[in-house]
Amino acid sequence: MSKNKLECYSNGVYFENPFLVGSGPPSTNAKVIARSFDAGWGGSVIKTLSLDHTKVKNIAPRYGQYKVDGKCIGFTNNELITDRPLSVWLEEIRELKKRYPSKVLIGSIMEEPTRENWQELTEKVCKAGVDIIELNLSCPHGMPERKMGQAMGQCPEVVSDVTSWVKEVSTVPVWAKMTPNITDITIPAAAALKAGADGLTAINTILSVSGIDLKTFKPVPNVKGVSAFGGYSYKAVKPIGLRMVGELAMAFPKVEISGVGGIVDGQSSAEYLCMGSSTLQVCTAIMLDGFKIIGALKSELEAVLDQHGMENVHELKAKSLEFFGTMEEMAKRLEASKQKTKAHTDHFEGDNIVEVSKQLTLD
Ligand SMILES: Cc1cc2nc3c(=O)[nH]c(=O)nc-3n(C[C@H](O)[C@H](O)[C@H](O)COP(=O)(O)O)c2cc1C
Repeated sequence: MSKNKLECYSNGVYFENPFLVGSGPPSTNAKVIARSFDAGWGGSVIKTLSLDHTKVKNIAPRYGQYKVDGKCIGFTNNELITDRPLSVWLEEIRELKKRYPSKVLIGSIMEEPTRENWQELTEKVCKAGVDIIELNLSCPHGMPERKMGQAMGQCPEVVSDVTSWVKEVSTVPVWAKMTPNITDITIPAAAALKAGADGLTAINTILSVSGIDLKTFKPVPNVKGVSAFGGYSYKAVKPIGLRMVGELAMAFPKVEISGVGGIVDGQSSAEYLCMGSSTLQVCTAIMLDGFKIIGALKSELEAVLDQHGMENVHELKAKSLEFFGTMEEMAKRLEASKQKTKAHTDHFEGDNIVEVSKQLTLD
């Protein structure tokens, strides 16, 4: 049998491949999770759980698309965490672990910021059999009026409290999922790690408005004329996700990072690994193209490894970080190379703006 180049470990947990279904619609009940496992995904992060589902009121429509030339490049959502009872979920977790013992099941959890709530939820979810806990400290519409979701992730003291409460009782590794809706992602990440988090997940969705209907001036999507800033995902967020994963990997080189945000193919998967991720999560691409994309993700990532004569996916980890430096360093290198360029801004003379812009662009 040929060697599985994609198998990997993160926080001591074995993954048959680094591709995990990210928390969201593709992990929203046991039926879809089972489907993802049958299709070949290495694991799944369950749609975020809380103690009392009756407080969760989902709306419809709740998704929007940002299209360029008719093609969706960005996706917005106003979806809350799971609206299904925790007792049903706990039974489903038990069943899934029985049926798919080799797949990694990650319990995403969120609660109001009290020790009792977080510890009760952690204990129940661990007991049901998850392999890892992911703290949802990051949903933009994670019910901020209840001080949940990104309202927690934006406050390092709360991140620290929640992480330490969960670590006191968790029997499995704990990943803290970070919000990108913050100036410096390393500040809350440092608080989570100091409080005992074993790993980090980045990024959750970015606050956004997908568009305005110019006939009515109402934002899209809206419900009966009212909208709220949504969470932005899919291809358009990849450059921001890569930057934030890179910032985390540079600040905490030994920490396991699960990269997420705009992963759609082998190229974007490999890029997240090169920026320091050890596992990869995919959400919107599955919503748009189905669980079957796992076939192309795996073969395209394997092709990247083969191209470089690499034996294992771990070899790509953080491969690109050494190539980041400062603007000053770049200027010095260019000067030393004596290469003729149009770097000076005086080269823009008016009508040549398109041509000079092109010359300054690396495709
Ligand atoms: C409709 C939708 C619902 C989501 N729900 C959750 C959630 O319940 N918990 C969570 O941690 N992230 C949630 N996310 C965020 C995703 O897990 C992921 O971090 C984000 O979408 C970026 O990845 P992507 O570009 O592959 O979608 C949701 C995303 C979408 C699109």
